[in-house]
Amino acid sequence: KILILDFGSQVTQLIARRVRELNVYCEIHPYNHIPEIGDDVKGVILSGSPCSVREEDSPRVDMSLFRNKLPLLGICYGAQLLAHTAGGEVMASGHREYGRAMMDKKSGENPLFANISEHSQVWMSHGDTIVSVPESFEIIGSTDSVRVAAFHIKGEQTFGIQFHPEVTHSSEGKEILKNFVVNICGCSQNWTADSFVESTVAALKEKLGDDKVVLGLSGGVDSSVAAVLIHKAIGKNLYCIFVDNGLLRKNEYEQVLESYKSLGLNVKGVNAKDQFYAALSGLTDPEAKRKAIGKVFIDVFDQESHLIEDVKWLGQGTIYPDVIESVSVKGPSATIKSHHNVGGLPDFMKLKVVEPLNTLFKDEVRAVGRTLEIDPNILQRHPFPGPGLAIRILGDITAEKVQILQEVDAIFINGLKNKGLYNQVWQAGAILLPINSVGVMGDERTYEKVVALRAVSSVDGMTADWCHLPYEFLAEISNEIINKVKGVNRVVYDISSKPPATIEWE
Ligand code: XMP
Repeated sequence: KILILDFGSQVTQLIARRVRELNVYCEIHPYNHIPEIGDDVKGVILSGSPCSVREEDSPRVDMSLFRNKLPLLGICYGAQLLAHTAGGEVMASGHREYGRAMMDKKSGENPLFANISEHSQVWMSHGDTIVSVPESFEIIGSTDSVRVAAFHIKGEQTFGIQFHPEVTHSSEGKEILKNFVVNICGCSQNWTADSFVESTVAALKEKLGDDKVVLGLSGGVDSSVAAVLIHKAIGKNLYCIFVDNGLLRKNEYEQVLESYKSLGLNVKGVNAKDQFYAALSGLTDPEAKRKAIGKVFIDVFDQESHLIEDVKWLGQGTIYPDVIESVSVKGPSATIKSHHNVGGLPDFMKLKVVEPLNTLFKDEVRAVGRTLEIDPNILQRHPFPGPGLAIRILGDITAEKVQILQEVDAIFINGLKNKGLYNQVWQAGAILLPINSVGVMGDERTYEKVVALRAVSSVDGMTADWCHLPYEFLAEISNEIINKVKGVNRVVYDISSKPPATIEWE
């Protein structure tokens, strides 16, 4: 595997994604929590950082742990750190160098740039620049404004590049990473969904033996894939619980339960609608609603898990982005975590935790799901918030409002599916607004509810843009909603991007 040391760059995860796309396994670790480097580590990549090596307290590592022992590639800050610690000079550039640049290869063939064009487009994003390097450094790439755009330390497998090969604007970035990871480090490209399933199922068998596991299904991709993997390893000893909180989409509970059963999972559906509605009654503050829902869920889950005799493990669909420790660049002591007070937790949380997907990115979870032949309807689902429709009904929640919103949402989502738009949209849904507006039906004035439709494109939900859905489509959906859903006489479309707006309305 490849070890990626994170110095706090926004794009460190992208480096990992690119390496994984080469079917090579890699792990991200904070620069200040470097794991033991065993024989399985074939090379090290140093990430970028918002810091400057010229600052006294900028993040540092003990290079002797790996330099000249393993192939080493510094990217941006990582390259500057290599130059700085080897006696080179790094200075502030006169201007921030940001965006596209053309790099010229220097001094013939270097293994890092094998099969790379003589002039290659690269993506720069840095405030500092390397102005001088020691004798032992060979400059292997330059751009018009950056003389030391890439270097190789002679006699070592150590390289530095000022640009970002992990972003797609570096047109041959993936080739460069492949040269490093495959040719220089010698990693074999055998990290695939199939191999992951095979090794994970074997490891789960070993770890869980005859123990029982309880797992809460949400209907989403992650918990479904986690369940099927664990099921493949231990069969009926996996007890799945799927709670109807009364805040799911129309018919979702029945449909999802059905598809879980056809996957062979041992799943118990628990109808707890009334408990959720009772806890939500009269609450209008979004955070209070979220807390109430979280609490009821824990109560229900705790109660259900007590019914499973001698259960030892809690299965979870946690994925890699949730567990990558974020790096604090304010100093090495700032990332120490406090431990929960175990005494106050519900019983199920005292179980040992098994998280078979905690090394995977979302797209890899989907690929594993395809290998496991999980229903594409589950794998391609839009993300849906845990508190469900409760945070799409602004203000207080009643069963009647839930029902109205379910009808509206179903028309919108089915419309997207029927028109082949669903998979082009990252997330879509409807929001019930806490206001009435005037309308006219026949000779009567009406005073009824307003709903908003929201559809966004996004990569990870951190930023998003509103989808430019066809006008004709929006017109049809609006008509259908107003004609079919009693109590709604106006439909609006949300054209805000995130930031500054968010995807959900509360
Ligand atoms: P925002 O509204 O913050 O949403 O732009 C980003 C993503 O997070 C989801 N979201 C939630 N998911 N519990 C969840 O499980 C929540 O309380 C919650 N709030 C927002 C939202 O649907 C979007 O995918």
